[in-house]
Amino acid sequence: MGAAGATGNALVHRLTTAGIHCRALSRDPDRLRANMNAVNTVDVRYADATDPASLRAAFEGASQLFLTMTNSPAQIELETRVIAIAAESGIAHIVKLSAPTAREDSPVAIARWHHAIEETLRNSGLEHTILRPYAFMQKLLLLTPQIAERGVIVGTMGAAACNYIDCRDIADVAAAALTRSEIAGGTYTLTGSATYSYPRLAALLSRLLDTHVRYVDLPPAEFRAQLIERSGFPGWLADHITEIQQLAVAYPEHPNDTVAHILGRAPRSLESFLAEHVNTFRPNVSRILQ
Ligand SMILES: NC(=O)c1ccc[n+]([C@@H]2O[C@H](COP(=O)([O-])OP(=O)(O)OC[C@H]3O[C@@H](n4cnc5c(N)ncnc54)[C@H](OP(=O)(O)O)[C@@H]3O)[C@@H](O)[C@H]2O)c1
Repeated sequence: MGAAGATGNALVHRLTTAGIHCRALSRDPDRLRANMNAVNTVDVRYADATDPASLRAAFEGASQLFLTMTNSPAQIELETRVIAIAAESGIAHIVKLSAPTAREDSPVAIARWHHAIEETLRNSGLEHTILRPYAFMQKLLLLTPQIAERGVIVGTMGAAACNYIDCRDIADVAAAALTRSEIAGGTYTLTGSATYSYPRLAALLSRLLDTHVRYVDLPPAEFRAQLIERSGFPGWLADHITEIQQLAVAYPEHPNDTVAHILGRAPRSLESFLAEHVNTFRPNVSRILQ
């Protein structure tokens, strides 16, 4: 599932390149097919977790499932339905994309949702692998407008260090769980190989873009209000972003060696991710001239 997302898409490429047959699921199969680039042999199917019949059709004959879902207040309901229908359909192993601090008492609401879904999975009787990655490097691309247009990164994380991971490494670990019996069945907290504060990220981008990018630190309530008023985020998402930044302040983050241990190589670095996407962060000249 989630084959159009950064992790799911990388997983489809990884499995297909290895010659492993997989089905790529989306609520919009035509859009997914168009975005699959070179991978035109993939079996793309319609699946919407709000539509049980579509899940039954999509899961028919499948043996394993990679489960990821965009965050939403309906996430527990949707993923619970996916797990139930996967079990009915004869799927034997689910690899679930979860989140760090997936505990009942987590200060992050979405981590509590993930805990509830993990519990359902643990009680399902299915074999399950749980991936708990830290912040996705790919989501840094959402900072592009503020960096390109105003030369700022706005947050409420002070100088706290934060773990980042490239979604392609999460996908590689998911592929390992789907293809290697010694990896399947585990619960893995995934990080890159170093932590980065927002001031350090601003310094890296300044050097890369050859311009001054500065970090603007706001009190949590002001940051949350800006996410709603300036970026148009719904309250639950503004709460989530504020909560995860405050979590990094309260509990200093550290990298681990899980990715290296599973994959036998170091995780991709933030420096190389930023270099790969440097032009995305540059001001769009045609937009400025308009
Ligand atoms: N962002 C982070 O830094 C981070 C860190 C740790 C954990 N996580 C967790 O990772 C998960 C994925 O997050 P993301 O933001 O990266 O998501 P994403 O990959 O952008 O989205 C995953 C996919 O969910 C699919 N989807 C949404 N609603 C669906 C539905 N009703 N039925 C079937 N498919 C549906 C979408 O596919 P279609 O539109 O093609 O249907 C989408 O491609 C979340 O659970 C999040 O909590 C995120």
